[in-house]
Amino acid sequence: MRFTCVHGRQAVLFTIANALTAATAPTVSGSNNQVVFINPKDTNVFGPKATFRDNTFGTFFNPTNTAPPFFQAFHPSFSSVLGRSPSIKRIASDPTFAFAHEAPIWLEETDEVTFASNAGGPLGRSDLERNNQVGKISLKEAERMIENGVKDVNVTVTKFSLPETVQMTNGGTGPVNGSLLLVNSGRGSLPPSIVLANPQTPFNATVLLDNYFGRQFNSINDVKIHPISKAIFFTDPPYGYLNGFRPEPLLPSQVYRFDPFTGVVSVVADGFDRMNGIAFTQDGDKVYIGDSGAGGGFLGNNQTEPATIYAFDVDPVSQTFRNRSVFAFVDTGIPDGLQIDTQGNVYAGCGDGIHVFNPSGLLIGKIYFGTSVANMVFAGKGRLVVMRETEVYLVTLDAEGLILS
Ligand SMILES: *[C@@H]1O[C@H](CO)[C@@H](O)[C@H](O)[C@H]1NC(C)=O
Ligand SMILES: *[C@@H]1O[C@H](CO)[C@@H](O)[C@H](O)[C@H]1NC(C)=O
Ligand SMILES: *[C@@H]1O[C@H](CO)[C@@H](O)[C@H](O)[C@H]1NC(C)=O
Ligand SMILES: *[C@@H]1O[C@H](CO)[C@@H](O)[C@H](O)[C@H]1NC(C)=O
Ligand SMILES: *[C@@H]1O[C@H](CO)[C@@H](O)[C@H](O)[C@H]1NC(C)=O
Repeated sequence: MRFTCVHGRQAVLFTIANALTAATAPTVSGSNNQVVFINPKDTNVFGPKATFRDNTFGTFFNPTNTAPPFFQAFHPSFSSVLGRSPSIKRIASDPTFAFAHEAPIWLEETDEVTFASNAGGPLGRSDLERNNQVGKISLKEAERMIENGVKDVNVTVTKFSLPETVQMTNGGTGPVNGSLLLVNSGRGSLPPSIVLANPQTPFNATVLLDNYFGRQFNSINDVKIHPISKAIFFTDPPYGYLNGFRPEPLLPSQVYRFDPFTGVVSVVADGFDRMNGIAFTQDGDKVYIGDSGAGGGFLGNNQTEPATIYAFDVDPVSQTFRNRSVFAFVDTGIPDGLQIDTQGNVYAGCGDGIHVFNPSGLLIGKIYFGTSVANMVFAGKGRLVVMRETEVYLVTLDAEGLILS
């Protein structure tokens, strides 16, 4: 049994001789650059005596038993995403606090990444009584420490003191005119909202929207700006209720379009179980929506409900979503945040790490952590910053993200 790295653009293929008893490869704690290729044909048959996975949230697909984090390739084209010398490095960590869950935004000017802590979930330090936290780290500082050979990089997290109008931030994109575009799930009777927030002191914020014709949203979860119209699209699942910090939902699980220039709000898609992440293609003609219905908060997980990414055409006139089709069903956990690179590959935060699909929906590889990743953000060409709850990782690769501002 041998592992191999991807050299240049050509993956070296190999066969898994004995998938279930493979040796564990040595790795450095919190840092790795190993690429393991798994030919799908080698895992088609497990046999009658094998151990099958019966819990998508608790057991993962790692037939080579490689110690995470590592790159798991399923198609040779993953090498064009990774490039010659990909790496995975932890740059911040606090085992007691899920400080880096969602809403990652890269600020190019200062080379910082902002993010929100877990709202209402495990190690989130937030609930019906307590708001969650928005913070930021300096990538410049992290890279300087890596260059200087610091062994366990742990950069400072700067905490924002945002106004009371920002409650339970769970999604973010931009920047928009230098501000963060944050979507907030609300807390108790405090309304879900869309705000622009200043990422520098005094961290002031302006609320753009907090109702649909006088009705509160359920718990706004994720957001993207349409690349052409610049309208704001957001998802509104019931996770605030299911995580114990919002009242029972009073609206269906829907995707909304908000035009900040006219103030018009409208529904562009429904029929979901519990939708989650959203991402537009570069031309804005297509959109992906993750449905994480299999994750039910206090209702429990249910593997027969969706863990599915759907693709839609965006109507050129109304911008409503048309022609829904299955793009991919994720094999582990649920699809959470979604991002797209300049080649049209789709990155989804899932139960075991980041799954990367090509534009046809083929799973070409994973950035495998062996634990869930809620979201990630590209920070210019060749850098992907990963929200790993109690940790932040910097992945260096060849891919480049779309401009989201
Ligand atoms: C990183 O620093 C933070 C803040 O000082 C600290 O709470 C945390 O424990 C540190 N992480 C590690 C792995 O030492
Ligand atoms: C950003 O700034 C431009 C130019 O000042 C302005 O026209 C636009 O409305 C601003 N965008 C938002 C979302 O406020
Ligand atoms: C923050 O305050 C400054 C100064 O009043 C203002 O120019 C800016 O638009 C505010 N930013 C936000 C996001 O509200
Ligand atoms: C899981 O979901 C399916 C489909 O919605 C439903 O029929 C089933 O009762 C659920 N199972 C549990 C244990 O809730
Ligand atoms: C939906 O699909 C049909 C059939 O392929 C196509 O003619 C139509 O243009 C699509 N709608 C949009 C908005 O792209």
